[in-house]
Amino acid sequence: MGRILFGEEIAAEIRAELQARVAGLARRGVVPGLALVRVGDDPASASYVRQKEKAAHALGFLSEITVLPERTTEDELLALIASLNGDPRFHGILVQLPLPPGLSPERACGAVDSRKDVDCLHPANIGRFVRGDPYLLPCTPHAVQEILLRSGYPPAGKHVVIVGRSPLVGRPLSILLSQKGPRGDATVTLCHSATPDLGPFTRQADIVVVAVGRPGTLQTDMVREGAVVIDVGVNRVDDPAAPRGYRLVGDADFDALREKVAAITPVPGGVGPMTVMMLLSNTVAACEAQTRDAR
Ligand code: GUN
Repeated sequence: MGRILFGEEIAAEIRAELQARVAGLARRGVVPGLALVRVGDDPASASYVRQKEKAAHALGFLSEITVLPERTTEDELLALIASLNGDPRFHGILVQLPLPPGLSPERACGAVDSRKDVDCLHPANIGRFVRGDPYLLPCTPHAVQEILLRSGYPPAGKHVVIVGRSPLVGRPLSILLSQKGPRGDATVTLCHSATPDLGPFTRQADIVVVAVGRPGTLQTDMVREGAVVIDVGVNRVDDPAAPRGYRLVGDADFDALREKVAAITPVPGGVGPMTVMMLLSNTVAACEAQTRDAR
């Protein structure tokens, strides 16, 4: 039976480390501020943004959500971002993705002041990250890296196979884990929707990361015994017996895989809570950097 890697437990360790830094800022009269922007009515996005705000409040941050209507124009969104850029109470700004059709995520993320870009989605920050000289690390890839390191599965020297090349997860994770140094040093294979057959790749992996947003993507016959599985997928599946009529599942076939692997993250309760904690970590770092500049 494989070990279950509970994201909440690792997130609690990091929260304790952040508490000390938040207390240090408080002694200087500084409160970290995180502005969250959401556009439209997507229920999953609404839930994620609420979780981020709640976690920020729990650490004593100032945090506010601004919700814009589904039919917001690009000018209106960019005007809001400009006002948050100029608001000294906020050290971090996050524009929740995806945006409704017609709004460009590249233009929105590029409009955020790069010092307040706690998502690492501003082109200047992506460039620094790819070059190996990051300002802040992208939240979900950093969450996966911390889960591996803090659970005793360092990626160095291992073959990591990532399924999914999204700009938020798969692609930046492939860069992060292949970077030189003890927190990286993995040999990385990046599979995606044009990979004809995933099994021959995933079966070679010491560590499989699945991040495509489709239940059942990773089955037991696709991993070798003793592999480590990190499941980034969050999917709503209908379940009339569940209180809300649906339940959350990952991209991996958790129950069957658990019998075969060394360790696996659950959904919910795996990568998700760690992603939120890495966002808070970035906000503290952005706050420290901005208030250091100001003195
Ligand atoms: N939507 C899903 N994950 C993320 C994320 O990490 N950042 C933003 N901005 N939107 C997301």
